[in-house]
Amino acid sequence: MHFSEYGGPYGELSAALRYLNQRYTMPDNRGKALLTDIGTEELGHVEMICTMYYQLTATATIEELKEAGLCCNYAQHGGEIFMTDCNGVPMTTANIGATGDPLADLSEDMAAEEKARATYEHLMDMTDDPDCLAVLAYLRTRELVHFTRFKELYDYYKGNNVNE
Ligand SMILES: [Fe+2]
Repeated sequence: MHFSEYGGPYGELSAALRYLNQRYTMPDNRGKALLTDIGTEELGHVEMICTMYYQLTATATIEELKEAGLCCNYAQHGGEIFMTDCNGVPMTTANIGATGDPLADLSEDMAAEEKARATYEHLMDMTDDPDCLAVLAYLRTRELVHFTRFKELYDYYKGNNVNE
């Protein structure tokens, strides 16, 4: 178990901050609304991910934490989880693309959703716990939905020549 979907570059927290930051420079209310809706939903996903981590680790012994590769996290943060990727690298806004250009930002967002989907699939490969799989599968599906919504907006802006 690790925190890649919490503090990793393709995690939910980065997604929420990316969209809620980009929303201001979308050219119309349709774009501002979509970025706000999805950014807010991603914050809900942060809560789901953190809840799952806490439920998995709350009663773990030190030995179990060590076996799960969480010894460094325990040394530094005790029972808390922290906003890092799976290598322990702290979350950074350097991973958040934001150009002020709606087509460039929406392209970034589509790529981010695909990377989040792939990460969820990798996490699903590593567990056979049905409760974890159900949550991960739900979150994976939401990434597919977000990709489609961003693509629709991208195509709409492209068709309306928003950058010209
Ligand atoms: Fe998403």
